[in-house]
Amino acid sequence: MLTELLRCPVCACALHTEGRALRCERGHSFDIAREGYANLLLSGKPGDSKGDNKEMARSRRDFLNKGYYEPLASAVADCARAYTADGDSVLDICCGEGYYTNCLSARLPRAYYGFDISKNMVRLAAKRRCATFFVANIASIPIRDDSVRFAFHLFAPFHAAEFGRVLHRDGVLLTAIPGKDHLYGLKQALYDTPYRNDEQPPQAEGLTLTDTVRVRGHISLNAPEEIRALFQMTPYFYHTPSSGMQRLEALEALETDIEFVLLLYKK
Ligand SMILES: C[S@@+](CC[C@H](N)C(=O)[O-])C[C@H]1O[C@@H](n2cnc3c(N)ncnc32)[C@H](O)[C@@H]1O
Ligand SMILES: [Zn+2]
Repeated sequence: MLTELLRCPVCACALHTEGRALRCERGHSFDIAREGYANLLLSGKPGDSKGDNKEMARSRRDFLNKGYYEPLASAVADCARAYTADGDSVLDICCGEGYYTNCLSARLPRAYYGFDISKNMVRLAAKRRCATFFVANIASIPIRDDSVRFAFHLFAPFHAAEFGRVLHRDGVLLTAIPGKDHLYGLKQALYDTPYRNDEQPPQAEGLTLTDTVRVRGHISLNAPEEIRALFQMTPYFYHTPSSGMQRLEALEALETDIEFVLLLYKK
């Protein structure tokens, strides 16, 4: 397990592997789980118990593994290639079940790290064996100051101060927002009056937007369980009226555009 970028979540000293644990010089110790990830979340903080359950984590993994979001993975890999050199560090912020880090690591040899607040997600990510994966909260990332050459952050809460702190002075942070046409076909099935996304960038105080890249694609889902898996991954899952749910459940196939806007920041 690569540990160079890690810092102790209690005292901020460097962490090293010692047997099946990560340890700092002051004696704080964190077990490495059987699957090969570390839990660096200090328990008891509000919000720490949030996260997708096992079934949702698996459903996300199975859907992404089918390659429907491959154009996004390719575009992120292209950016990582453009902004890093051999041996540089790449951090997947809110890595979920590790699909994107896995895609990048297959194309680009770099020192990969990834974390998420959900243990269920990180457990699945760790099974991919492509990075140092750990459980942590974006509000307090156990990574050294000014150390990450390329960080990417897909569809998750944003924390400008922490992202800026861990970024190297020449580092780049990539975040993705849904483009205006993203999943419009799904929304047509769900809502009487579907709307286009407003492409609202995150609040990124202290970071400077340096570039944007638009990624477009079109996907065809031919199985009800795939449609359900896609739906579960979206914010609509949490606020769709029952009429929309019924229409979705009756669907046998779905065609939809996908569209992402990649925003690249420096500090
Ligand atoms: C929509 S998923 C995206 C996962 C992954 N980036 C992807 O695109 O497949 C959002 C992820 O953010 C994680 N998350 C939410 N709040 C978090 C926090 N405060 N710190 C770390 N991760 C968090 C969730 O556990 C979830 O895995
Ligand atoms: Zn410590």
